[in-house]
Amino acid sequence: MSNSGKYYGLKRENKRLSFFKAYTNNDNVTNEMLDIIEKKITETQPISILDLGTGNGYLIREVLRRNKNALKSSTLIGIDSSSVMIEIANNYLDAEAIEFIEMDNNRTKFQNDYFDIIIAKAVSNISTTEVYRILKTGGWFIYKEYGPGRGIVEIMTSMRKRRVHSGDRIVDDMKRMGFGNIELRKFYIPLSRTRDEVRAITDTMRILPYGITRDKVTRAIDEYYREKSWKIIHSDPYLIIGQK
Ligand SMILES: C[S@@+](CC[C@H](N)C(=O)[O-])C[C@H]1O[C@@H](n2cnc3c(N)ncnc32)[C@H](O)[C@@H]1O
Repeated sequence: MSNSGKYYGLKRENKRLSFFKAYTNNDNVTNEMLDIIEKKITETQPISILDLGTGNGYLIREVLRRNKNALKSSTLIGIDSSSVMIEIANNYLDAEAIEFIEMDNNRTKFQNDYFDIIIAKAVSNISTTEVYRILKTGGWFIYKEYGPGRGIVEIMTSMRKRRVHSGDRIVDDMKRMGFGNIELRKFYIPLSRTRDEVRAITDTMRILPYGITRDKVTRAIDEYYREKSWKIIHSDPYLIIGQK
């Protein structure tokens, strides 16, 4: 099992939930992703959809909520390497029609050419080789992640050690593998954030395993804010769409 899988659990999930409850999160990019998924569902009438690194299952539950009729007899699966996250995902009332399984994104137990659509959001630990293997020919991969700024570009630039996929690198991998109709949409979104909000964001993030101490994070945030109570922080998400 990967390290990041072990890192996620109840404590971090609670931090994430309280952050999203406390602070507004103008997430138009996730809405754009959901619109793309909806379009692919309408076009392909999928029998099976997989959500990688599903966490609390938000994305796949939202996909189901928006496409209830079209997905009536489809198989919906969310996998996560953290057993705690699988338990949390299963506890949502609207999760009944979804199967949540503890499994590593990089070594799944699914047979070749199995899924019509594979989706993943905010999961850097994915293998495009594995996605390609378990996707049906003609199936779609739709992926959303943050760039090296991790959604807090100004703070993260002073802590470059984190290993993050850049959208371009994933696209190169996908081309090599044989994916077609690849599209990369990059965003650079200014948000007004207070020091406490940025602290809360970094609190939910997996930075310590990359050799960055919490002290260093706090210093970088203080350095950026100085005497200001709020500042503009850029978010750098990207969306990748590709077809096998
Ligand atoms: C930042 S959360 C995102 C959760 C969800 N996709 C969302 O957007 O709300 C990352 C999730 O990926 C899971 N994860 C990390 N590495 C993984 C791996 N190798 N295989 C499966 N899940 C993994 C973590 O346990 C965690 O739940």
